[in-house]
Amino acid sequence: MPRYHPFLVALHWLMALMILVALAAGRLLLANMPPDSPDKIAGLGGHMVFGMAIGVLLVLRLVTRLRSTHPPHAPTGNAVLDRMSVWAHWAFYALIGGMVMTGLAMAFGAGLFPIVYGGAAQILPPGLQDLPQREAHGLIATALVALIALHVAAAFWHQFARKDGLLRRMWFGKRSTDELAE
Ligand code: HEM
Ligand code: HEM
Repeated sequence: MPRYHPFLVALHWLMALMILVALAAGRLLLANMPPDSPDKIAGLGGHMVFGMAIGVLLVLRLVTRLRSTHPPHAPTGNAVLDRMSVWAHWAFYALIGGMVMTGLAMAFGAGLFPIVYGGAAQILPPGLQDLPQREAHGLIATALVALIALHVAAAFWHQFARKDGLLRRMWFGKRSTDELAE
């Protein structure tokens, strides 16, 4: 069975969980809290450190992905879909990187680090909602949710309609190296 590198497998599932938590916390909790809510600063403190941890894991993941062998792309039976799935996987790296960078740009742009982690008055700047970085962070989040929905639907289609055992490629176990691509 050709499989992804075990470190990449571990990062895939850990990061999937972390990204879903960050998306839900951002969209369902933080975005709905008014700037003067007492829980907002604590919420942002958790979200920012969690988001930056995702950024560190993304770099480790990219290095592992580029340096390890991996299964050849799973065929769908349609040349356009095959090409789309390659792009979809790289789009994840771009969108997750985009979330981290726009998040950092927002935090630096609005001077959030001293406000959230101490040293400055615990009052959020009034224009936080209107920053272009904030807008971009929200738009990329929407694109990421759509890509995750597509990705999960595609994984289930492979697994249960095409029955090609795709999920096992993203799990731990013996890797038959003769079928792996550079
Ligand atoms: C936030 C959620 C997720 C993200 C960001 C994500 C991202 C990715 C990426 C980028 C790859 C390509 C391998 C790589 O370069 O790392 C991949 C592969 C894969 N993902 Fe996900 N994934 C997520 C959630 C899920 C879920 C929930 C499932 C299961 C239903 C799943 C099933 C798979 C499978 C089976 C593969 C291997 C595809 C193949 O063999 O070519 N993923 N994922
Ligand atoms: C992959 C990582 C991240 C994800 C998935 C994520 C997700 C989100 C989401 C979904 C929102 C709400 C956007 C909206 O509904 O318009 C949000 C808001 C926000 N995020 Fe992130 N984020 C990530 C990383 C970061 C990082 C690294 C920082 C800063 C260091 C950050 C700082 C913020 C801030 C300041 C807000 C605005 C909160 C508000 O105005 O209520 N995020 N994030």
